[in-house]
Order: sequence, then C-alpha cells, then structure tokens
Amino acid sequence: MKSHTPPLRVLSALLLSAAIGAALQPAASFAQAGTAPTTQSPVDAGIVDEDTDTPYVPTPIDVVERMLHLAGVGPSDYLIDIGSGDGRIVLAAVSKFGARGHGIEIDPRLIERSRQSAAKLGIGDRAQFLTQDLFESDFSKATVVSVYLLPKVMQLLTPKLAALRPGTRIVSHDYAMLGDWQPDMTLRMYVPDKPVGRDRHSTLMLWTVPAQVAGRWQFDLPKAQGGARVEIAVSQARQILTGKATLNGQPVDLQGLRIDGERLRFALEPSGRAERFRHEFDGVVKGDSVSGTATYHARAAAVAARWEARLAR
Ligand SMILES: C[S@@+](CC[C@H](N)C(=O)[O-])C[C@H]1O[C@@H](n2cnc3c(N)ncnc32)[C@H](O)[C@@H]1O
Repeated sequence: MKSHTPPLRVLSALLLSAAIGAALQPAASFAQAGTAPTTQSPVDAGIVDEDTDTPYVPTPIDVVERMLHLAGVGPSDYLIDIGSGDGRIVLAAVSKFGARGHGIEIDPRLIERSRQSAAKLGIGDRAQFLTQDLFESDFSKATVVSVYLLPKVMQLLTPKLAALRPGTRIVSHDYAMLGDWQPDMTLRMYVPDKPVGRDRHSTLMLWTVPAQVAGRWQFDLPKAQGGARVEIAVSQARQILTGKATLNGQPVDLQGLRIDGERLRFALEPSGRAERFRHEFDGVVKGDSVSGTATYHARAAAVAARWEARLAR
C-alpha cells in the first residue's frame, strides 16, 4: 500500500485521492485538501499524510461528538479508532463519554502528538495509541470501532469488521462498507468548519455487527404456553433476516423477525385460523443457542416465560 521515496509518496497519495475523488465526492474532498497551499508541514496543517493508504484529515470536533453519540458510547465501552490521526476520537470517547480505548495509527508523529494530548488531559491510562498498520492490527477488543478511511480501505476492511464480535458497533465518517452491508443508521450534518469538501457536510453511518442466525431454529413452547413444537427456517444477508415458521408442523405467520447485534426478536401468529393469539420472542444469541423470554398474548392476558432455542445450521 505504501511507496518508498518521499516525493513519490506525496505524488502517490495525491494521485490516489484524486483518482478515488473523481468517482466519489467525499474522496474528492481529501484530494482537494492534498492540493491546498500551506506554509505549515502537511501533518501540522492537518491536511495530508503522504505516507499512508488514507491521508491525514482530522474529523471536526463536533462531528467526533456526533459520531460518539450515534454509536451510544459510554463507560462500559472500549473504542478503537482505526487510523487515529491526532487521537481526537479516542480522546473524546475517554474524556467526554467515560469510555476506554486506543487508536491505531501508522504515522509515529501523530502517535506522539496523541500521547501528549492524553497526558495533558490526565487520561493516559485509559486512552492509548499504538503505531501500527491497520491491515495488521487486531480489533477484537473493541465494543465500538470508529473509522474515517477512504473507500478502498473500507472495502478491504469490511470482511474483518463484519467478523467482529456480534454487537460491536462501527461508526464511520463519510465512507461506507462494502456495497451489500447497508448502515443501520445514517446521519448527514452541516459542518461549517469542515477542512475538506465543497458542500461542508459530513455523513455519519452506524452498523452493528449481527450475530449469525441463518439455519433452522427448533424449540418447544414453554409448557404454560401450550408446549407446541416450533420450527423456524431463517435466511440472513448481513443484518437482514427472512424466514418461515411452523407450529406443530402447521404454517404460522412469522412477524418482526430481526437481529440487532446479539438480540433476536420475532413473533408468531396463526395464519387464517379462527383462534387469536400471539407469541413474542426476545432473546440473546450465543453461538448456536438463544435464550430470553417468550410472551404469550391471548385475549386480554399475557404470560411470560423463559425461552431457549437451538440452531441447526
Ligand atoms: C482521514 S484520517 C482520520 C484521522 C482520525 N481518525 C479522525 O477522524 O480525525 C486517516 C488516518 O489514517 C491513517 N492511516 C492511513 N493508512 C493507515 C494504515 N495502513 N495503518 C494505520 N493508519 C493509517 C492516516 O495516517 C491518517 O491519520
């Protein structure tokens, strides 16, 4: 990904940005940033790092805070910023949202600057910065991952991000995942001080890594709810689920089938029968099993009971 002599590195980063920018407007923003005249060094100007797969362009601080809000970052989170620049996302997650975390950055000068900022804020024990190549880094510790990386890097990273622990949130500034993994949430905001781009807007996107639930789920309803045998065949494309269900071998309507990280939810209702009832299921998936609550609604009454099911893939 890297070239080796300084002038070539500058040229290749600018050409790379320009080439991608021709197709994608936000990438054009980076290209414009790279060609902006400046009297400071490019890194100090916060404009470009010529040595890397994605040039250094800092996320404006109000965008950083919106990203952290969008991802719901809090004290129980461990955030990893991939390509952490001057460390601002990790520093904000730790100092303002109470999380812990670390940044991965290829440029040692930016790592040094990040460490100094963490020390000044007195959070050096909870905000760490590692000089690493993101393509050789381990993100498995993260509950939240943040990224502001060019599309070609996002495409290379998508399989690794999709394989993170179910429930891990990924928040991105301006660039999406591989085409078939749509964000769960997208937010577009006006950013008057954005250092790049023509329209002074940023797009923030959030994904939650879904548990893998495709296959045949089988279980008996709790005894208090009739004990019938349920079978559900589930197909999955990223976080989108479709399925069919039977109750004692008879087709039954499967409604609201969805996965949010590890949380699986659906409901069963009789299709075209005179009797009226509804079973609602809400559980947490761990590997090939799910456990949670089954709630049976019939007439005005609702009966809740513990529910467990197993998956045959
Ligand atoms: C667009 S900047 C984002 C900085 C920071 N995350 C932010 O949002 O303010 C991308 C950063 O990724 C770093 N980077 C590029 N390629 C990298 C690689 N292979 N490994 C680690 N960091 C890399 C760059 O040096 C740059 O600081």
